Amino acid sequence: MGKSDRKITVGTVSVGEHGKKLVLDALNRGRISGGKFVDEFEKAFAVYHGLKYGVAVSSGTDADAVAVATLHDRGAHRGDEIVVPALTFISVANAVLHAGFVPVFADIDRRTWNIDPASVERVLTSKTRAILAVHNFGRPAAMDELVDISSSQNLMLIEDAAEAHGARYRDRLVGTVGAMGTYSFYVAHILTTGEGGMVITDDDELAGLLRSLRAHGRACDCRICVLNTESAYCPLRYKYGDDTDIRFHFERVGFSSKMNEMEAALGIEQVEYMDEIVEKRRENLFYLNEALSPYRKFLELFEEEEHEKISPLCYPVVLTEDAPFERFELTVFLEQRGVETRPMFGSIPTQQPSYSWMGYAPGDFPAAEYVGSRGFYIGCHQNISRDDLDFVVKSFAEFLKEY
Ligand SMILES: Cc1ncc(COP(=O)(O)O)c(C=O)c1O
Repeated sequence: MGKSDRKITVGTVSVGEHGKKLVLDALNRGRISGGKFVDEFEKAFAVYHGLKYGVAVSSGTDADAVAVATLHDRGAHRGDEIVVPALTFISVANAVLHAGFVPVFADIDRRTWNIDPASVERVLTSKTRAILAVHNFGRPAAMDELVDISSSQNLMLIEDAAEAHGARYRDRLVGTVGAMGTYSFYVAHILTTGEGGMVITDDDELAGLLRSLRAHGRACDCRICVLNTESAYCPLRYKYGDDTDIRFHFERVGFSSKMNEMEAALGIEQVEYMDEIVEKRRENLFYLNEALSPYRKFLELFEEEEHEKISPLCYPVVLTEDAPFERFELTVFLEQRGVETRPMFGSIPTQQPSYSWMGYAPGDFPAAEYVGSRGFYIGCHQNISRDDLDFVVKSFAEFLKEY
């Protein structure tokens, strides 16, 4: 079959009239670095989650990095260890290194494709400071077990919900169970501002540290310094003495990781549509699961369990051991028909060349390696039509009829 004109993408962008109006408003105000829209977006996102604080940053990677970097103010040392899943997007491990820590990998659960708590317990050492759990593809990680481990071992638990906006674990929104929840608003994600990220928390001290860390480690956390309003005067400006201007006084090694007003303008609108976006994606998920269920002998599907509510970033599929064909044969077939695909990330320590320096060997993470070599995903987003979903199903059927 030749190339198709149809394009069923893995991600989508929805900008409505309100978003466009707000972007224009930011441009007309001439205030394009962080200002009142960033403040508004942070508040709206925090309120949606029932938490006190949102701290907007420039990416999901930086959301992880600043969240992890708060540990430096809590007695951690450079080179201490943070446990992350072996299978997830590469940025999670990168962010830990950016923050001055070492990522230590736990294998995933073969059934949920998320970090396996039993494997976490096996990799803990006296240098472990935190668990950075990821809700891969929009499915909540095993929070009950992870909360137990982190509280019994006195570890910080951070949730990376970059792929899971609006997902729920036992009725609680993901990102609200651990000390902090981190999000990405990259263009391929469920809510998008083009580029951008956020950390949410209920903890006053962590919120202050996050605001400092995203702005080079600046000392002052007052509203005037944080929103950087050019006309207002910080009342604490010379609190360290006449010769120390707090605007250029830095208490920790930070990042340059702020969100701008145009991104925040888009984010404000995205929160208004969040429930609608999540529900449409879930409809697509259930439709595909139902239609592809006759092929379960060859395909592991993205099936929700009773205790959770998946918010699908995408539609992941893992080939079963019975599948008598290779992943690339199916993905190339789908791509040629205009159905975009992506591999399910790969095991970071053993399948990503950028981590070979850590010295792990193939076979160290059997579940992550299996999913990393036999899993792929296609789009499941709110702008995929029913006709496109039917086309996807027909494409699978066409490929699988040979087997
Ligand atoms: C789980 C996870 N965390 C963090 C990120 C990083 O987000 P960003 O691309 O906004 O830096 C991504 C992907 O993009 C991700 O999938």
